[in-house]
Amino acid sequence: MLLSAVLSVCVLLAPSAWAQSSVANAYAASESPLALAGMLANIGPSGSLSSGADSGVVIASPSTVNPDYLFTWTRDSALVFQTIVNQYTLGIDTDADLRTEIDNYVAAQAILQQITDPSGTLTTGGLGEPKFYINLTQFVGRPQRDGPALRSSTLISWANYLISEGNTSYVTDTLWPIIENDLGYVAQNWNLSTFDLWEELYSSSFWTTVVQHKSLRLGATLAQTLGQTSLVSNYETQADFLLCFIQSYWNTAGFMTANTAGGRSGIDANSVLASIHTFDATAGCDALTFQPCSDVALLNMMTYVDAFRSIYELNDGFAPNEAVLTGRYPEDVYMDGNPWYITTFAVAEQLYDSLIVWKSQKSIEVTETSLPFFQLFDSSITAGTYASSTSTFTSLIDDVQTYADGFVAAAANYTPSSGSLSEQISKTNGSQVSAVDLTWSYAAALTAFNARAGIVPASWGAAGLSLECTGAPSTVSVTFNVMATTVFGQNIFICGSVNALQNWDPDTALALSAADYPTWSVTVEVPASTTIQYKYVNIDGSTIIWEADPNMEITTPASGSFTVNDVWQS
Ligand SMILES: *[C@@H]1O[C@H](CO)[C@@H](O)[C@H](O)[C@H]1NC(C)=O
Ligand SMILES: *[C@@H]1O[C@H](CO)[C@@H](O)[C@H](O)[C@H]1NC(C)=O
Ligand SMILES: *[C@@H]1O[C@H](CO)[C@@H](O)[C@H](O)[C@H]1NC(C)=O
Ligand SMILES: *[C@@H]1O[C@H](CO)[C@@H](O)[C@H](O)[C@H]1NC(C)=O
Repeated sequence: MLLSAVLSVCVLLAPSAWAQSSVANAYAASESPLALAGMLANIGPSGSLSSGADSGVVIASPSTVNPDYLFTWTRDSALVFQTIVNQYTLGIDTDADLRTEIDNYVAAQAILQQITDPSGTLTTGGLGEPKFYINLTQFVGRPQRDGPALRSSTLISWANYLISEGNTSYVTDTLWPIIENDLGYVAQNWNLSTFDLWEELYSSSFWTTVVQHKSLRLGATLAQTLGQTSLVSNYETQADFLLCFIQSYWNTAGFMTANTAGGRSGIDANSVLASIHTFDATAGCDALTFQPCSDVALLNMMTYVDAFRSIYELNDGFAPNEAVLTGRYPEDVYMDGNPWYITTFAVAEQLYDSLIVWKSQKSIEVTETSLPFFQLFDSSITAGTYASSTSTFTSLIDDVQTYADGFVAAAANYTPSSGSLSEQISKTNGSQVSAVDLTWSYAAALTAFNARAGIVPASWGAAGLSLECTGAPSTVSVTFNVMATTVFGQNIFICGSVNALQNWDPDTALALSAADYPTWSVTVEVPASTTIQYKYVNIDGSTIIWEADPNMEITTPASGSFTVNDVWQS
């Protein structure tokens, strides 16, 4: 009797649907504990694969050659600890050892923030440095401005939990000083170019903008709670600018342009990751904040997934509504350009987050924008709102669940029996390639499984926001004067650390006027309240002479104009 009941359910489902969901079930059950253990193994001082890492330090991977990933990245660490904080604070795993790990992480970040590195000191841009040695000393890198945003968001999740437990004094004394440093950095520097999360392009980056926005919304609320009221309006003002800026990345071809640097299609996992890492179920399917089930995010995801259907052999033969393996971006050539676990799990997670919201609001809205996504499952569907009482709602929920489970099943198919997850999957033969035991791969698996289980992360305040796009980020007018003696043919130029100063590119450096020779002068609009480094350059045809170290540095005022009088450093 029982057997025939099971069989009759079975025949109602397409064979592949049955298979995908049972594979995903089994994989989530077996891989969840391994993924948690895999993350913890990569955290010092006692993780089994993290030997040599200081307390609270997350290694990216134990791999030391081809590639060498035995470093700690601010971004990866923050995402890994966001996962651990969620495990603990959402009651998924309340093991006291997790709390010790979080305390260690907090202590390590307090040290890292103080390191003077190539991006600057604590107060002059050093927080943008993405990567450090695992003994908490500097590695030579370049600014990636998502780190402070992600770290402060993780620490604020932890702070909000502790406040709810009545432990406000620890938040005020220990967490807030670290959080305030990061939020100050975000508020002051979000409008500067950044290296993207893959560390390749220097421009504006959708992912970075989106996570910066979230951190300032969280920060404004926490600052208010802690009585730091003087900071609230600046955080909110900058967050309003960021929310407007987020909208500008939309490409009407159906995706968010991941980076503004150009030279690529702009289709990139950066956007799918942005959607899952800023999921806020209280905001429903809000498009302004690019919620996972928003029409723009669904179309973006479909465009992104489709970009990988034809470029990996392993994806051959799958129908347009079947899951495939995905990678970072279609033009990727790193290690030959392979599928990644992080990105394949991210697609599944976006779909699971969407299912959470549709089931909770008991309806699915199909718009002209999201129509192509829903047509994957129902070719005759039209725009409209489908309530949970309709058969369209029921079948879409089933179909999207199957589709999502397909991405998990795809990852499962290329996971060895040990459960270990590397960075990449060879696009030709499915074996694991690049860094072994990538900490972020484990975190990505765990967050996808949690979303599949219907677990909802804490709200960050995405609900009810509206666009306030009047005005622009403030700039101030700075006149740079420099005394420099030159010979015929030589001219003085300036370049520096912001777009307005050409991002250090001497080929496009700004010319100064010699009207008051030997004083050379130029007036430039630069971001307000920002620390800017610059140098003068003497150029004669193809001969470029930089002035001597160190870099010049100014911090611009909040408004008005400003003059600097320099002397050429020889
Ligand atoms: C930290 O680690 C790096 C890389 O292994 C090493 O070069 C450096 O000497 C170490 N610094 C300290 C203070 O141990
Ligand atoms: C507050 O939380 C911190 C960090 O986990 C912990 O060390 C401290 O004992 C807690 N204080 C109280 C009163 O619970
Ligand atoms: C700075 O902000 C303005 C307005 O939002 C935007 O147009 C510009 O592209 C931004 N630049 C960078 C480098 O973020
Ligand atoms: C699979 O392909 C990778 C390159 O993508 C190669 O390094 C590896 O040796 C291949 N493994 C097998 C079993 O063919």
